[in-house]
Amino acid sequence: MKLILLGAPGAGKGTQAARLAQTLAIPTISTGEILRDAMKNGTELGKKVRSYMDSGNLVPDQVILDIVAERLAKSDCANGYILDGMPRTIPQAKALEEMGIHVDRVVSIEIADDVIERRMTGRRVCSGCGAGYHMTAHPPKKEGVCDKCGQPIVTRKDDAPETVKNRLKVFHAETEALKDFYAELGRLRLVDGDRDMDEVTAAILKAIEVEA
Ligand code: AP5
Ligand code: MG
Ligand code: ZN
Repeated sequence: MKLILLGAPGAGKGTQAARLAQTLAIPTISTGEILRDAMKNGTELGKKVRSYMDSGNLVPDQVILDIVAERLAKSDCANGYILDGMPRTIPQAKALEEMGIHVDRVVSIEIADDVIERRMTGRRVCSGCGAGYHMTAHPPKKEGVCDKCGQPIVTRKDDAPETVKNRLKVFHAETEALKDFYAELGRLRLVDGDRDMDEVTAAILKAIEVEA
């Protein structure tokens, strides 16, 4: 199964990708996570992308395509993978096709902008492993500490309300058109993301025709 998760910032792509990766036993490739790791580790890539990330703008297509081509060539991707946050533009989607990467399903997690803006204020992430939390919908067992690795959980820099507004603007301007692109290829499925996380997971599995 090669699956793309599409959706606005905060739609729940990362949350659902983590659950689906377990159920389907395939890795998740999250370009956002790869870029945040690079920034944390102070690599050349990290330095190059920081200003885009912090302002909520898209990183140039070629940077993303190089990262993804390298990651998909690894052996753990042989039986499939979940792409979280990529492609993000029509040129990225076309480049995937040109690289011979034809995904089986594209699931768009649908959610209204005002719900997202409210949701984002409660989002926290682990500073160690990147696991996602939410102050009310999905709090860690011990306050302020990651369940998985014990590191402190923090607020993502690009979750500042003004930056969230810009990310939503960028999503509507650059990314939303991918729905039409994949609908024309017959691969698009829509799932309502404004409900309980378990219900969203079940709906995605149904949409991609996998028994839970
Ligand atoms: P990226 O990391 O991909 O961020 P994003 O798309 O803005 O999405 P988020 O990670 O913010 O949200 P999500 O959909 O994963 O939601 P989550 O599951 O966390 O990209 C960041 C930046 O990297 C971009 O701005 C850009 O600069 C760059 N970048 C990355 N990829 C790129 C590309 N291909 N091209 C160019 N640039 C790129 O959920 C959100 C919160 O809600 C969490 O707290 C969660 O616990 C909670 N939650 C989830 N589901 C539910 C639910 N059903 N009910 C209640 N709460 C829920
Ligand atoms: Mg994410
Ligand atoms: Zn952690």
